Amino acid sequence: MPRHFLSIFDLERTEIESLIKRALTLKELKKRRKPHHTLKGKVIGMLFEKPSTRTRVSFEVGIVDLGGSAIYMSSRDMQLGRGETIADTARVLSSYLDAVIIRTFEQKRIEEFARFSSVPVINALTDLEHPCQILSDLFTLKEKGFNLSSMEFSYVGDGNNIANSLVGAAAILGFNLRIGVPKGYEPDEGILDKAKQMYGVVNVEILNDPREAVRGADVVYTDVWVSMGQEAEGGKRLKDFKPFQVNKELLSLAKPTAVVMHCLPAHRGEEITDDVLDGAQSVVFEQAENRLHMGKAILEMFLEDGV
Ligand code: CP
Ligand code: NVA
Repeated sequence: MPRHFLSIFDLERTEIESLIKRALTLKELKKRRKPHHTLKGKVIGMLFEKPSTRTRVSFEVGIVDLGGSAIYMSSRDMQLGRGETIADTARVLSSYLDAVIIRTFEQKRIEEFARFSSVPVINALTDLEHPCQILSDLFTLKEKGFNLSSMEFSYVGDGNNIANSLVGAAAILGFNLRIGVPKGYEPDEGILDKAKQMYGVVNVEILNDPREAVRGADVVYTDVWVSMGQEAEGGKRLKDFKPFQVNKELLSLAKPTAVVMHCLPAHRGEEITDDVLDGAQSVVFEQAENRLHMGKAILEMFLEDGV
């Protein structure tokens, strides 16, 4: 049975620590132009049902850096888009490939693919979670000198895939997470339950006041108000989220040393203002760069048996 990476809950604390350590080494190797072909001869498929800039390109470059080959597949151009089942697609693709990276809609789609896949499956974003992004963000925070079990982390905006994976990370690592969301946009119940069941979580607080959520924070994180697939709800969401914009005034409530994070793409002027996104406290472009290094560390870990 291959080991899949479908959720942040698939990792233990020590594994997250190892991934961060390895990402740092891989970053150094890349900067020093030292070859690191740990996936030599491996072919990795990338099956995407939603658009992507960072995830797609960072994984493709990362696979080349590791000496492997990547094949990008848009579901629009596949029989999957004409009704072939996920199970049949998984059986066939996994007979050719050494791993499959998937970006899709419902979590159950990636879970079904994994059930029928004979090779590791990696979650490159679903409606429910974005675990590769959160690992890369933790790596960025480690580089910035934060203590990953005692930092005060604040997330403001939609209780979406980013927020859900952050809940998992807080449960596993123990940092305090305050989530500021409008009523009705809270993180997924199932994720909150899982955090409680697996880790007895008490360090995640859901608030409906953005100011309370941000007060005294070390990290202020936000994401788009309209995620991929939610375009039809756009108008209502923009109205409901308006008081949750990360701007200078809101940021002034966090610690003066706080960093600002966003997984990107940003909708400038909606969830975050230009001056904050481009300001001295922002680490968003480091987060984006780190997707490359962390993506490589993840591939190495989940393809380990065959390396
Ligand atoms: N942050 C992130 O996953 O970006 P993309 O949608 O561009 O891959
Ligand atoms: N929450 C966003 C993240 C994009 C990287 C979305 O799902 O569209």
